[in-house]
Amino acid sequence: MQVFVTRRIPREGLAALSQAGVCSIQQWESDEPIPRSELLAGVAGKHGLLCLLSDRIDKEVLDAAGSNLKIISTLSAGFDHLALEEIKKRGIRVGYTPDILTDATAELSVALLLATCRRLPESVEEVKNGGWTTWKPLWMCGYGLSNSSVGIIGLGRIVPLAKLAEESDFVVVTCSLTPDTKGMCNKDFFSRMKKTSVFINTSRGAVVNQEDLYQALVSGQIAAAGLDVATPEPLPTDHPLLSLKNCVILPHIGSATYATRSAMSVLSANNLLAGLKGESMPSELQL
Ligand code: DGY
Repeated sequence: MQVFVTRRIPREGLAALSQAGVCSIQQWESDEPIPRSELLAGVAGKHGLLCLLSDRIDKEVLDAAGSNLKIISTLSAGFDHLALEEIKKRGIRVGYTPDILTDATAELSVALLLATCRRLPESVEEVKNGGWTTWKPLWMCGYGLSNSSVGIIGLGRIVPLAKLAEESDFVVVTCSLTPDTKGMCNKDFFSRMKKTSVFINTSRGAVVNQEDLYQALVSGQIAAAGLDVATPEPLPTDHPLLSLKNCVILPHIGSATYATRSAMSVLSANNLLAGLKGESMPSELQL
């Protein structure tokens, strides 16, 4: 059996795949995304595909792969880049990597929340540009976490969005991107948040209407935002959100610890191998 791997991945994952002796591997050996034409050519005739969240796996790719393709294993917890209806129609099974990145992503959410509400990037910049002239009682003040309420979208009990926006000092978005959550954090949502509230998104950029977020930040409707995800990714360096001091933007590093990325690569390899052997996968997406 033949598989196509769309990027350089942690060596533990590649070793698991190659040492199993189940398949021959063709790989796009680069840290940069595979060009579309190479993806279409690379996947042709393959039985398995190991892809990333930045690879759009749609009808065109599935057609290019042809009827051999039986397993798609994505090295991600998110699966909004996969055309699930098409995939299901063709009887292709999908593996993904939920759970093992929860801790790393939660840590990053806390780090981003603190960086945003305590204005860390702005403060670091002031040290570098000479803005730090003396200690001033009203300078660089932000919002602390003590005695505050944090509303998390995508965790535990489902609270109506409007109520969550109105009652939280900090809103953290961690939910998956689905047709229901697309654009969910919009003008109406931000207008319900307190003027002192801070908004954090570590899920997917498209959950947020970015024009509405920009207006909310510029007009003072909300205090600040911290984003680990954006639309598009990467966000163009001249994007309006990047001009705002009260918006901290990170390059989608939620799961970026060595251990987590290694574990994700091994799980995605094991999902692929199990699928190729017709066995149950360690983490299969139920379609
Ligand atoms: C995922 O796996 O979907 C995450 O966004 C990566 O950090």
